[in-house]
Amino acid sequence: MASVLYLLRLLFLALLLSSSPVSSGECNKDDKKALLAIKKALGDPYVLIAWTSRYDCCDWAGVGCNETTSRVISLYIGGTNTSFAIPSAVAHLPFLTSLTFHKNPGLTGPIPPAVGTMTNLTFLRLDWNGLSGPVPDFLARLTRLDYLNLAFNQFSGAIPASLATLPLGYLAIDHNRLTGPIPESLARSPATFLYLSNNNLTGSIPPSFASNTFERIDLSRNQLSGDAAHLFGKSKPLQLLDLSRNHAIEFDITQVEIPEEMTALDLNHNRVYGMLPPEMGKVEWQLLNVSYNRLCGPIPSGEGIQRFDRYAFFHNKCICGPPLPACK
Ligand SMILES: *[C@@H]1O[C@H](CO)[C@@H](O)[C@H](O)[C@H]1NC(C)=O
Ligand SMILES: *[C@@H]1O[C@H](CO)[C@@H](O)[C@H](O)[C@H]1NC(C)=O
Ligand SMILES: *[C@@H]1O[C@H](CO)[C@@H](O)[C@H](O)[C@H]1NC(C)=O
Ligand SMILES: *[C@@H]1O[C@H](CO)[C@@H](O)[C@H](O)[C@H]1NC(C)=O
Ligand SMILES: *[C@@H]1O[C@H](CO)[C@@H](O)[C@H](O)[C@H]1NC(C)=O
Repeated sequence: MASVLYLLRLLFLALLLSSSPVSSGECNKDDKKALLAIKKALGDPYVLIAWTSRYDCCDWAGVGCNETTSRVISLYIGGTNTSFAIPSAVAHLPFLTSLTFHKNPGLTGPIPPAVGTMTNLTFLRLDWNGLSGPVPDFLARLTRLDYLNLAFNQFSGAIPASLATLPLGYLAIDHNRLTGPIPESLARSPATFLYLSNNNLTGSIPPSFASNTFERIDLSRNQLSGDAAHLFGKSKPLQLLDLSRNHAIEFDITQVEIPEEMTALDLNHNRVYGMLPPEMGKVEWQLLNVSYNRLCGPIPSGEGIQRFDRYAFFHNKCICGPPLPACK
């Protein structure tokens, strides 16, 4: 009885396999050729073992096709353990809108110029690889790009000002080796998420950021200096601001208005001075850290702020009151 069931199951499986190419349509021959060239350039990694002619290429791991046209529109390569560079053959997938290389420790070298010709891309994710070289100017040719993530690589040099011309909603180049200033133009970018932490950026936060539309800004662990009060303001859309460990961000916090949506503020290890505004006591903070600055005066009362321990406030000039010792 058991063996009959087993045979039936096998038969069912065989039917399922043989019918799959019919249901999903044949993948395009040029796309298939490009994908096989990519596989070869990647050194035939183990994760692409099922990229064979036995299956329709729209069913290959990491490959996504348009259901109507069966053209390849997305490609995800991750978890490889081979050594390779980004293959220029990716540009031979003309309908690609989404390209990801994520967590490939053997992926090194620069972003090849071919990527600058992939003008249908809306999503480019190259995080957690070993990529290096500059953040290339030619990325500005990807005029439909909404998402750009180059985090956790070894990119060096300056942030190209031209990135601001892209319709980006999300920009992350954190955890690299970027130097130079934050381009003034970046505030014009419609991005809502800006992550540039853990680089070696210098200079001040441009005055143009007073009119930014960012909801989250993380500029922590750089070498930025000077004013940051212009990032604040009641009607700003800012929810999260992390400027920690720049060591030289310097402004009077007494007069700033906390943005209405803000619930996360990390300013630790800078030169912020003045007194925490009493309104800060009304915010339901998810994250607050003003330690290692030059603050003075009483810590505002209010449950939202008082749930943090003294380590959120310690190492300042003369800040006092709970959870620190009483003011004199
Ligand atoms: C698939 O292609 C058709 C025809 O070009 C297009 O209208 C449709 O928007 C595409 N769908 C996706 C999800 O890209
Ligand atoms: C890559 O992974 C495969 C499968 O886990 C393994 O057989 C192979 O030895 C690995 N290659 C390297 C260079 O680590
Ligand atoms: C972008 O996609 C369109 C169709 O949506 C296609 O005609 C065009 O060739 C593609 N552009 C590039 C540069 O591949
Ligand atoms: C920043 O620069 C310092 C000194 O030049 C260097 O030691 C450090 O590794 C750099 N950090 C990064 C993330 O590049
Ligand atoms: C605030 O930052 C300081 C310095 O990095 C750290 O020691 C402390 O644990 C942090 N406290 C909170 C509540 O995040």
